Amino acid sequence: MSESGSTPRVYSRIAGTGSYLPAKVLTNDDLSKIVDTSDEWIAARTGIRQRHIAADGETTGDLAYHAAVRALQSAGVEADELDLIVLGTTTPDLIFPSTACLLQHRLGANGCGAFDVNAACSGFLYALSVADKFIRSGDARTVLVVGSETLTRMVDWTERTTCVLFGDGAGAVVLKADTETGILSTHLHADGGKKELLWNPVGVSVGFREDEKNAGVRIRMAGSDVFKYAVKALDSVVEETLAANGLDRHDIDWLIPHQANLRIIEATAKRLDMPMERVVVTVDKHGNTSSGSVPLALDEAVRSGKVQRGQLVLLEAFGGGFTWGSALLRY
Ligand code: UT7
Repeated sequence: MSESGSTPRVYSRIAGTGSYLPAKVLTNDDLSKIVDTSDEWIAARTGIRQRHIAADGETTGDLAYHAAVRALQSAGVEADELDLIVLGTTTPDLIFPSTACLLQHRLGANGCGAFDVNAACSGFLYALSVADKFIRSGDARTVLVVGSETLTRMVDWTERTTCVLFGDGAGAVVLKADTETGILSTHLHADGGKKELLWNPVGVSVGFREDEKNAGVRIRMAGSDVFKYAVKALDSVVEETLAANGLDRHDIDWLIPHQANLRIIEATAKRLDMPMERVVVTVDKHGNTSSGSVPLALDEAVRSGKVQRGQLVLLEAFGGGFTWGSALLRY
């Protein structure tokens, strides 16, 4: 109870961050040897220069494990203190058990709840929002939130319109219940009516069939349609986030966007009237790592000393579904 007799409000605060990238790097020049593309085209249209590729046998769960260990270390939290693990991924190790369960066992966090969230590239934002609700409701006090992907496992390396975009990687945060302000709000959206603009149309229930119409486990994307929808959806969720918190766009210290395309990131920064020096950009080095992208960028920004305690940070993402979302937090 507080001095006034009322129960103090509980927030989720980021106690630590971590990330992991596989060792192998594939540059644009490397790609230009296998498909009809060039460093100039990829850099000009996307901002990407290179991406990391998981080694044979290296899984989403492996990437998640390394990112999680680093996040736990930076938070000073032991695995057995965790009340919950929420993991965003669209490339799980197995159909089941969930990658979160595999991670729970490997970390030695046995007994706590663990589940995956599939919201494609918005997976980390969805996972963070769910974790925040558990903490605010009092059902959990210490939660590990992970975004981890091996998207290159479902890339068609003969399809230049998609294979140049994606990379593998993972990021994680440890959230702790605190009476000091942390996550201020999260905002999630989806539009399942646009599923065919960005999807991988195979699965357990429809079958992993290979035929003329449906040639295997491969990402399909109508790039320029996705681009236009993403810019509009992100503009709208950014406005919604500011309005929900009674803030002006100039109040935000850092924008940490999903890293799909530098031109989409620049459009959101423009909407916020934010100089690019206050936008965390990793797309040049990582490509699009889907659920991994926002926590990877956050970890890099924290470890490099860019993002400081007390600053206002806006996270956002857009992905297949369509799904999109944001989180505003005081770091
Ligand atoms: O994370 C989930 C969300 N995903 C996204 O946000 C991705 C959104 N979309 C994009 O980032 C962009 O649409 C792309 C980077 C995928 C494509 O950029 P674009 O400016 O929309 O190019 P485009 O698809 O309109 O293609 C322009 C031209 C085409 O040639 P023609 O028809 O003008 O002769 C393509 O065939 O560029 C050609 N092209 C390429 N050329 C060299 C497409 N891919 C390549 C390539 N290298 N890799």
